[in-house]
Amino acid sequence: MIRENICSNLIRKIGVIVESEKDRTAKLQTICDLLKNNIPHYDWVGFYLVDKKAERELILGPYSGEPTEHTRIKFGQGICGQAADIEKTFIIDDVTRETNYLSCNARVKSEIVVPIFRDNALIGELDIDSHTPAAFNNIDEDFLVRIGELTAPII
Ligand code: SME
Repeated sequence: MIRENICSNLIRKIGVIVESEKDRTAKLQTICDLLKNNIPHYDWVGFYLVDKKAERELILGPYSGEPTEHTRIKFGQGICGQAADIEKTFIIDDVTRETNYLSCNARVKSEIVVPIFRDNALIGELDIDSHTPAAFNNIDEDFLVRIGELTAPII
C-alpha cells in the first residue's frame, strides 16, 4: 500500500527532474529509478511510448527493472496494448488469470498501466509490475496519473 506522504514527496522530486537540464531520456530514466527504488511493491517501472512512425504501436522507453522481450507492443495486445486501445487505466490483481497478457517475468503477479495524454491524445503509458498479488489500488492510479501529467510535456 502506497503512503500519501511518500506520494507527495515523490511528486515534488519528479517536478524538479522534469525541469532539470538533463535530456528527455535521462529524465524519464531517473523517474523510473526513483519510483522503483522508493516504492517497495513497484518491482518493474517503465514508460511505453506511442511510436509516431508505426501504426498503433507502443515502443519501450526508459525502464527500471529486469529487461523485457516486449520492446514493441501493438495496440490491443497484452495489458499495455489494451490500455492504449481504449485509453483507460488497467489494474490487474492476478496476471495469471488474464488471457490477453504478455509475460516478461514469472515472478510478476499484478500490474497497473496508466495512459499518458498530451492535448487529449495518447502519447504513452506508465507500466508498473509487482511481485505481490493485488498490489495496486486507486491511490496508485491517482499518483501515476499525476506523474503522467507531469511527464507529458517531455514525452
Ligand atoms: N505485461 C505487459 C507487457 C509489458 S511487461 O510487463 C514489461 C502486458 O501484458 O502488456
